[in-house]
Parts: sequence; structure tokens; C-alpha cells
Amino acid sequence: SITHVILTGGVGSRLWPLSRKSRPKQYLEIFEGKSLFEMTVDRNSHLANKVMVVGNVDNHQLSGKVMEKTSTSYINIIEATPRNTAAAIAFAAFASDPDDILIITPSDHIIDQMENYNKAINEAVLKANDGFIVTFGVIPTKPETGYGYIEAEGDNVISFREKPNETTAKDFIAKGNFLWNSGMFCFKASVLLEELKKFQPDVYEKSKVVWEASKQGFLDLNLSMEIPSISIDYAVMERSKKIKVVPASFSWSDLGSFESVYDYLNLKGHSTDANGNMVIGCDKHTTFLGLKNTIFVYTETANLILQKESSQDVKDIYSELEKQN
Ligand code: GDD
Ligand code: MG
Repeated sequence: SITHVILTGGVGSRLWPLSRKSRPKQYLEIFEGKSLFEMTVDRNSHLANKVMVVGNVDNHQLSGKVMEKTSTSYINIIEATPRNTAAAIAFAAFASDPDDILIITPSDHIIDQMENYNKAINEAVLKANDGFIVTFGVIPTKPETGYGYIEAEGDNVISFREKPNETTAKDFIAKGNFLWNSGMFCFKASVLLEELKKFQPDVYEKSKVVWEASKQGFLDLNLSMEIPSISIDYAVMERSKKIKVVPASFSWSDLGSFESVYDYLNLKGHSTDANGNMVIGCDKHTTFLGLKNTIFVYTETANLILQKESSQDVKDIYSELEKQN
């Protein structure tokens, strides 16, 4: 059977103050009364027989409300604390039958062109059935350093490189056969666990201990703290020889930072002024004087004014800002 696994661990710290600890970005109802989380549930509901949500103690109620709203029955895995995606995905695999096909998706992406999306997923499921770990490759538009890169030859993956530095990213783009990793994956539960055990035995063993000690989906905090915090990209994708890639022929945006929100809104006709300045979160007339590529983020309780190029740094100040709230 096919299970859609929704990863919803992140707080979206690079989108502060739109995204707050108590209200992570994937739950904000910013698109016609729907959140990115709900759109993720909708988009995959007809592609899988089961749904699994891997979230945490701080957000499982927010997820629960959406599942109720959409009348979706689901398997609920509640982490005591985030231990990154290798562990989160391992829990999903432990909760599955070995032959189950898992479609792993984040809960905070925007995807359009559903026909192409459905086709890509169906193609991935076929390859996953053959024992491969399938990635979805997006045609890159700039040397983004926040993504993983897939060196591809047809559907074969020659190498996978997570978050390269800018020089390397530029080099990849120039070479022409590198794709962005979309952050979605498809595989048989047993295949992923075998590869994780091979390349990160510590993550595998300690996640297993946590999973076996779990009660009604709730995971133990002290045991969880023992799991090394590493993403699936570094843990498995960079090392496994069983990776395939399917072209992400649908339109894809990761609204991970204000720069990507800016690019997305630009594409949708939410215009900037003549100097590339943009307001997010308010309709009031706003004038920028002597500024270029500046983003003004307005919320009820806090504002942020940033240079578009500083988008990745919002993460660094997030914890400080959240303290002041
Ligand atoms: N349950 C759970 N627990 N979910 C988690 C955890 C965790 O500890 N950590 C992260 N997640 C969720 C996030 O909420 C998000 O939905 C997804 O897993 C991916 O995590 P990110 O932290 O957003 O990863 P990233 O954006 O830095 O990188 C990944 O996505 C890129 C595309 O958006 C990688 O797969 C990159 O290779 C990829 O290019
Ligand atoms: Mg992300």
C-alpha cells in the first residue's frame, strides 16, 4: 500500500515574524483560507491509501485540526523534540510494513500543475517498487545554497550534494546537468531503513529504540535526545547508490525564506516598486525612499525590514527575536 508521509517539524524560522513558534508558517491560512499544510493534505489524498503525520508536541494539535477539517484519518507520530529528517523519516518507516511505499513530503511547499504532479508521483511509485529511493529534480534558476543538488544523467543519479557553498553551486549550474532536490522522496520503507542502517547505524539504532518505546504515537524525550540530529539528505541521499530522479515537471516553490516568497509573489504579479522593494503582509500604501531590494514584512505584533539578500540570516536572529516576542 502507499502512504503519504507529511513532515511537519520545522518552525519556519527564516520567515519570522510571519512565522512564529506558536504558529509555524505551514499552518497560516494565507492562501484562500487554506494553509500550506492543508494544501499538502489535499494534493496527495488521491495518490495514497494512508496518511501519516510526523510532527511534534508543539504542533500536533494544529495538524489535528486540519485533519479533522478535511476528514482525513491518519497515523499520528508525535516527536518529543525535533531530531531532524533522518530520524523523522525513520519513524515513518518503522511505523510501516516493509513493503509499503512511502511518499515523503514537506508541509510547506507551493506546487502547481497537478496533472504533472500526479504523473511524477506515479512514476516515482513505480521506481520505488523496483527498490529505488526516488528524488524529484527541479530545474534550477539560480545558485541557491539552501537546497540539495542532484547530478543527473537521465533518471540515474551520479551524485547528490546537500547545500553546497556559493562557488560550488555556481559551478553546478554552469555544468548544466544538476537539478535542485525538491525535498520530496519516494521509497519502500524497508529500502530506506536498510540504507540508513548501512550509512548511519547510530541514527537507525537509536530511532528504533525510541520507536519501540513509543506509546500511542508519542515519543520519549530522553531517548530522543540520544539520536544524532542529521537530515536525510546528508545521512542517506549523499551516500546511497540506489537513488533515482524523476523530473519535477510541475511548478514548485519552497517558501523557505523571504527571498523565495518575494520571487513567488513576483511571479504571481504581486508587484515591487521600481527599485525592487516589496511589502508583505499589508495593503497599506508604503513608500520606500532611497532603498533597493528591500522587503518590508508587516504583522500585527512585529515588523521586519530586510535587504532581500539577507533572507538567509533571519534564521540566526530568530531565537533572539522569539525571546522578545
Ligand atoms: N517531523 C519532523 N521532525 N519534521 C522535520 C524535522 C524534524 O525534526 N526537521 C525538519 N522537518 C520537516 C520540515 O518541517 C520540512 O517540512 C521538511 O522536514 C524539510 O526540512 P527543512 O529544514 O525545511 O529542510 P531544508 O529546506 O533545509 O532542505 C530540504 O529541502 C530542500 C527543498 O526545500 C532538503 O531536502 C534539500 O535537499 C532540498 O533542496
Ligand atoms: Mg525547507
